Amino acid sequence: MDGNAGTSGTRGGGRKRALKQKLESLASAGVSDLPKQRGAKPQRAAAATRIRSLDILREEVAACRLCEPLAKARTHTVFGVGPATARLCFLGEAPGADEDASGEPFVGRAGQLLTKIIESCTLSREEVYILNVLKCRPPDNRRPLPEETANCRGYFEKQLEIIAPEFICCLGTTAAQALLQTDETIGALRKRWFSWKSSQVICTYHPSYLLRNPPAKRDVWDDMKLLMAKLGVQL
Ligand code: URA
Repeated sequence: MDGNAGTSGTRGGGRKRALKQKLESLASAGVSDLPKQRGAKPQRAAAATRIRSLDILREEVAACRLCEPLAKARTHTVFGVGPATARLCFLGEAPGADEDASGEPFVGRAGQLLTKIIESCTLSREEVYILNVLKCRPPDNRRPLPEETANCRGYFEKQLEIIAPEFICCLGTTAAQALLQTDETIGALRKRWFSWKSSQVICTYHPSYLLRNPPAKRDVWDDMKLLMAKLGVQL
């Protein structure tokens, strides 16, 4: 035990003096603004590790040819977008034409609706992570085949494992069934909480379904209220 513990001139006192000197020298060098958050350094290091891991996975995805017909037809693989430390991930089905052209998920009409949903929750698109089950566009926007989902499973699962979000919101049947490995319908999966690794999972209708069936927006809003309450976001 340190015999000086708790008295002035202790290790704590020495640290205080050293800190004071450091702040004075920073101030004389013109630095007046320091991050207030405690433990910001380890958090930044953890974020950098996740960013690096996602970059490596993104490159793997870009080179993937497991589904040769999709690989042959694609303009871009569509990996995902958002902060590596996002608390909330939205998981969709697969890229459409706009996403294949741009390489970014949910940028077409369904994507614009997703952005509106996110903003209605008082969040911004930039603070959530958005990804799909499939990283390549299926022809004519058909549903992913079971073997395509199986080929992409390693990618979307690894991606979610790296981000380790507190919450995952599955958009539509394909995402919900793929992540939760169930054949229950989206209607049966809504309004329930599931666990996936360290994340809590909620399922709602896909924005494309809302474009075809606008009255279901009310149901999605109810699901978002459940999700925001758990996230601690007041609506
Ligand atoms: N639908 C999806 O599921 N994902 C997209 O990226 C676009 C539309």
